[in-house]
Amino acid sequence: MKKVVLAYSGGLDTSCIVRWLKEKGYEVICFVADLGQGLSQGENFEAIEKRALAAGASKVYIRDLQEEFISDFIIPALKANAVYEGKYLLATALGRPLIAKYLVQIAHKEKASAVAHGCTGKGNDQVRLEVAIGILDPRLEIIAPVREWEFKSREEEIEYALKYNIPIDVTKKKPYSIDRNLWGISIEAGVLENLEQEPPEDAYMITKSSTQSASYPRYLEVTFTRGVPVKIDGKVFKIKNLINHLNEVGGQFGVGRTDMVENRLVGIKSREIYEAPAATILYTAHKELEALVLDRELAHFKEIISLKYAELVYYGLWFSALKEALDGFVSKTQKFVSGSIKLRLSKGTCVAVGRKSAHSLYKKELSTYGKEDKFDQKLAEGFIKLWGMPYKR
Ligand code: ARG
Repeated sequence: MKKVVLAYSGGLDTSCIVRWLKEKGYEVICFVADLGQGLSQGENFEAIEKRALAAGASKVYIRDLQEEFISDFIIPALKANAVYEGKYLLATALGRPLIAKYLVQIAHKEKASAVAHGCTGKGNDQVRLEVAIGILDPRLEIIAPVREWEFKSREEEIEYALKYNIPIDVTKKKPYSIDRNLWGISIEAGVLENLEQEPPEDAYMITKSSTQSASYPRYLEVTFTRGVPVKIDGKVFKIKNLINHLNEVGGQFGVGRTDMVENRLVGIKSREIYEAPAATILYTAHKELEALVLDRELAHFKEIISLKYAELVYYGLWFSALKEALDGFVSKTQKFVSGSIKLRLSKGTCVAVGRKSAHSLYKKELSTYGKEDKFDQKLAEGFIKLWGMPYKR
């Protein structure tokens, strides 16, 4: 029998897919990636495994990929300050190539000829998974049941699940489509499709609204070593705990919400809201530290790289030669990105209010307007003459 490895989430779509693939004559192996998605109440990986088996899977792989997600995907994106269209910190987009990598790995281990996923034909995620899979092993067949199957609605899928005794909680209403991992949450569909309407509070999962959050500010100091966050308020944290902690604290102060209309790769504009407290805090701090330690030309050039980097991540080109080359550049820039940034979190805002670094290029004796001034103002005159010279007629 032909074998297929399916990226399985435990939800209705992928549970129906297990059965659907079996009907098509495949032996189905499920792969569940733990990227810190924070399972919903009453849910756990054991229950997900059971559901996969009940739906007809012959085997289930559950892999905790959080450490790798952080070290190989999140940290490089943070070092690059990668932001898509000025707002999206790419949590979903960064997870996809990692899932693809393990789909391929497990397919090899199981000698499967195909891999499958539950993405729709209208989104970015199908592109990211399939482009990555194609790069990692072009011989694997890729099946995207949602693009071709007969179900037209959630109700029809539920009917199918009931018919084949696929144990799914059909009572759960799903007002939104949600993708979550430890770097952030992406929320779309439902009332969010009305662009004129403010997202309802119930759409947000981990952040308080700015009106509900505390009236007092919270100060926080983040310490980086070569671009990697290592301490909060002087205390060393394991990176995963550091991110979880900042999600918690940031969420309390309403930090990290984004409401945007974005350009999807497949040509559609879509409205999406995001929650990424830790990512927002760490980006703010990281950029502030770079402002202190990078020289002007490097800093300005790096901004161009950030844009390109974010595009590559969004476009599913993680395993491309250009992305790898940009990582080389970005790594070099982090040599002196060590130091501490003090931030103030308050009512949905996160701003840097203090900074220090042993590699700071800030020289008070040059910038001061006080009496300790060492800047030779006479030099400015000649400098300006030469600087402006080419533009005179
Ligand atoms: N728009 C985001 C992206 O393309 C998130 C996509 C997944 N979102 C979701 N709500 N299921 O990366």
